[in-house]
Amino acid sequence: MTATPFRVRVTERTAEARDVVTLELRATADAPLPAFTPGAHLELALPNGLVRHYSLCNDSRERDRYVIGVGRAPASRGGSRYVHQSLSVGDSLTVTALRNNFPLAEGAPAYRFVAGGIGITPLLSMIRHCEAVGSPWSLLYCVRSRQRAAFHEELAQWPGRVRYHVDEESAGAPPDLAAALATPAGGEQLYCCGPDGLMRAVRECSAHWPAASVHFEWFSAPAEAGGGEAVADDRAFELVLRRQGRTLTVPAGRSILDTLEEHGLMVPFACREGLCRTCETAVCAGAVEHRDCVLSAAEREAGTSMMICVSRARGESLELDL
Ligand code: FES
Repeated sequence: MTATPFRVRVTERTAEARDVVTLELRATADAPLPAFTPGAHLELALPNGLVRHYSLCNDSRERDRYVIGVGRAPASRGGSRYVHQSLSVGDSLTVTALRNNFPLAEGAPAYRFVAGGIGITPLLSMIRHCEAVGSPWSLLYCVRSRQRAAFHEELAQWPGRVRYHVDEESAGAPPDLAAALATPAGGEQLYCCGPDGLMRAVRECSAHWPAASVHFEWFSAPAEAGGGEAVADDRAFELVLRRQGRTLTVPAGRSILDTLEEHGLMVPFACREGLCRTCETAVCAGAVEHRDCVLSAAEREAGTSMMICVSRARGESLELDL
């Protein structure tokens, strides 16, 4: 959508649920904000120097504000802790990018949403869109407790469409995803966002759905994707930088991004886990072993771009448009 940085100001801050705050952000300039589509996220440069990604949860037709929900991560590396403890109404932030790696397929006959905790945020903007265009939808919302269910009051306006699974009311039993996902309607689309365990369970229980109709947004790299870390059978390979006219060696245990930085070559990045698409780079030649969580099956098959923070060469050499 846009990669041109712009400033916004925090105009409202609401305690949405236990350990969840929502922030309303408005433009500091007298102009409409860049448009977004359901499922989009902001890349925000926080005043403490950290860059973080937050899904937009308001109506995508609104051009005068963005609304994000931020859960306090128990093992926060400084982003959610800063938002919860220090960010106030009146503070300015820089939006460094506005992207959508989790777009809603327009025109489907129905939509099935599965949210876990703060994973409700991108799904809420999708739900608003479905309501606006009259598309049928349903939501299974998995939370640890009612107190932690963000947007509970708002979701209450659609009692027939929203079903909760509350851990502390279920004696620890997990949601019955096999039953919830048993029968996809023709053309129905499934969207899931939440913690790693829920996402893997949904993937397992939706294996019989058409692959192109199942969509995930990961908060952190799943373990089988390497979790953003090197994996045991990594091998060194040759990296040709077409525009630089240079050839480097990417050692085992180091990413392409690491290797470029070690040679003084700076390329944009944010998550370093294959989640945000910031480091996406065009591939000129060579086969890629994709380890990211954002490319679709069709994009992987095409092999024309890769996330250089996690993905590697499948063979001895790879040539990139760098
Ligand atoms: S830096 Fe986020 S995908 Fe590579």
